[in-house]
Amino acid sequence: MFHLTFEEELRQRRLFIAPVRNPAIILNVGTGTGYWAFDMARMFPQTRIYMTDIALIQPDLIPVNIHPYLDDANEKWTWAVGSLDFVHLRGLAGCITNWRATFADAWECMRPGAYIEVCDLSLRFGRQGDETHSDDIWARCSQLIREVASSAGRALAIVESDQCELWMREAGFEIVTQRRVQAYVGTWHRAHKESGALLLKILLGIIEDYVTYTHYKAGRPLKEHRAYIKGLRDKLMEHSAGVFTEV
Ligand SMILES: C[S@@+](CC[C@H](N)C(=O)[O-])C[C@H]1O[C@@H](n2cnc3c(N)ncnc32)[C@H](O)[C@@H]1O
Repeated sequence: MFHLTFEEELRQRRLFIAPVRNPAIILNVGTGTGYWAFDMARMFPQTRIYMTDIALIQPDLIPVNIHPYLDDANEKWTWAVGSLDFVHLRGLAGCITNWRATFADAWECMRPGAYIEVCDLSLRFGRQGDETHSDDIWARCSQLIREVASSAGRALAIVESDQCELWMREAGFEIVTQRRVQAYVGTWHRAHKESGALLLKILLGIIEDYVTYTHYKAGRPLKEHRAYIKGLRDKLMEHSAGVFTEV
């Protein structure tokens, strides 16, 4: 779902936007289902693709040029110095504990002239044609998510802030380009119905995870929590008209 939302609609069916040509080695950090890596393996059959994750949720049958690793990106990177031609991190806001250290590690493991691409979703929502009020259900969820992430010491706002660009420059990357695309949530935007529906599904999942975490921390009973989540999902869907975010 994540892969489809990002590639199919939001980035005009492009797997990446960095001007990468014939990379020898690609590193896909936090690969998830692995679909980005699989598509890249088809596009670059001669390329060695390392895909990493801390969760083994990838399919067993994978293209021959893909090399999977159980690897925590928050630990010091151990890839050979100057070896990587392209590093790709997508959907990792909230997963990376120290972006500065991550970019510094990547810099060390990349060969001169290599590219790194970071792609993520903002969890701050706007509403088209209307000012978002703090009592808006989407604004309240956004606030909750940001509070939980910040109490866990995780940077979530890497899209809406310009921090990523700053951290990359600090790590030594010379040419840093940032591109932002508006992403429509739900099916209200005529031209983005499919990606909007997928994005809504993804966001409901993310919100549910964060709300579950707060309920668990507060020691609320599971039964009460299930009913709350159901009501919240219904309310978010009902009030999704005009909602957008950024990628
Ligand atoms: C939102 S998914 C994104 C998946 C994939 N990058 C994509 O764009 O389709 C985040 C993934 O990062 C993985 N992850 C979380 N923390 C990680 C870490 N410290 N190191 C490596 N992977 C991590 C999760 O297990 C999950 O599969």
